Amino acid sequence: MAYAAFRSIGAYVPQKILSNDDLSKMVDTTDEWITKRTGIKERHIADENETTSDLGMKAASLAIERSGIDASAIDMVVCATISPDYFCMPSTATIISKKLGLGPVTAFDISAACTGFVYILAIAKAFIESGMKKNVLIIGAEKLSAITDYTDRGTCILFGDGAGAAVISATEKKEEAIIDVHTGADGTYADLLMTPNGGTGSPHDALEGETGACFMQMKGNETFKVAVRTLTKDVKEILAANNLTGDDIKHFIPHQANYRIIKAVGDALKMREEQVVLTVAKYGNTSGASIPMAMNDVYEQGNLKKGALMLLDAFGGGLTWGSALVPFSPLK
Ligand code: UT7
Repeated sequence: MAYAAFRSIGAYVPQKILSNDDLSKMVDTTDEWITKRTGIKERHIADENETTSDLGMKAASLAIERSGIDASAIDMVVCATISPDYFCMPSTATIISKKLGLGPVTAFDISAACTGFVYILAIAKAFIESGMKKNVLIIGAEKLSAITDYTDRGTCILFGDGAGAAVISATEKKEEAIIDVHTGADGTYADLLMTPNGGTGSPHDALEGETGACFMQMKGNETFKVAVRTLTKDVKEILAANNLTGDDIKHFIPHQANYRIIKAVGDALKMREEQVVLTVAKYGNTSGASIPMAMNDVYEQGNLKKGALMLLDAFGGGLTWGSALVPFSPLK
């Protein structure tokens, strides 16, 4: 049987920084409020002419280079994004494939908001274990600044731009295999976090005269409570299902939405400070890109070693959630 191994990680962070002080000149907020309620100090913002596929392509290029696998061997590309280059088609994954000069590949996007990276990990694992694909490039890429309403202080303080990517490939060695991925969704909570306009679910006149047709809207406090409840339950379940405890985890890499959510879930798992990967202060919430961007930080600091067990967890619009138990299994 083929197993799926997590071979490499790469990320791209745009240069321009939007600080809390910058935001306090745009909306009625303060650095103190944002820091206390979210842990965020700054976020990176892509240039006007930089697209989501540009960000994703740079992250992917690094992930392929670090994987030791030739680009010509990549046979599938999946991109998780809620800020695609184009509404509906073509997919951002196909554009990234073209920009990377990949040959004929299966390429598509998925929409699972901030849980996107865990969903595409599950997809890569399933395609590889079924024998349908051998080397899958997965990318979480977001230009959230393009769908953020910078007059809404409840959301604009949270989001940033960036991308992260990984190569997942077939292996016969069980010790290299991704152990488990859990994914879930509950549409009952769909209205907590959404881009209400621009699709068939919104009346046509909702778009007339609107500049921000696709802006995100969030009921933050309700989302916060469901996030803590759902994530705590989900990570406990995935650990128990695999006879593991928090002590077995080297790096706990949660979706970076809010420091207080990460702390609550980390505490429920009795995680020690050094196990918890935190990048929310410098990148904010980059949705589907946040987990691979955080993982890339650990890698670039020289702390992601072969065999290190990672626990990923994420929560986002849909509502969706997911968790994964992943040993880092580089080829080189
Ligand atoms: O990534 C996908 C999932 N997303 C999340 O998980 C995000 C979850 N939600 C959150 O992170 C938090 O709910 C927020 C950071 C968005 C908000 O923090 P909160 O502690 O839940 O605040 P709140 O919404 O309950 O608002 C408290 C007060 C309100 O004022 P009043 O009604 O008490 O007078 C808000 O109007 O804070 C006010 N407020 C602000 N004040 C200064 C809301 N946003 C701001 C702001 N600056 N930016």
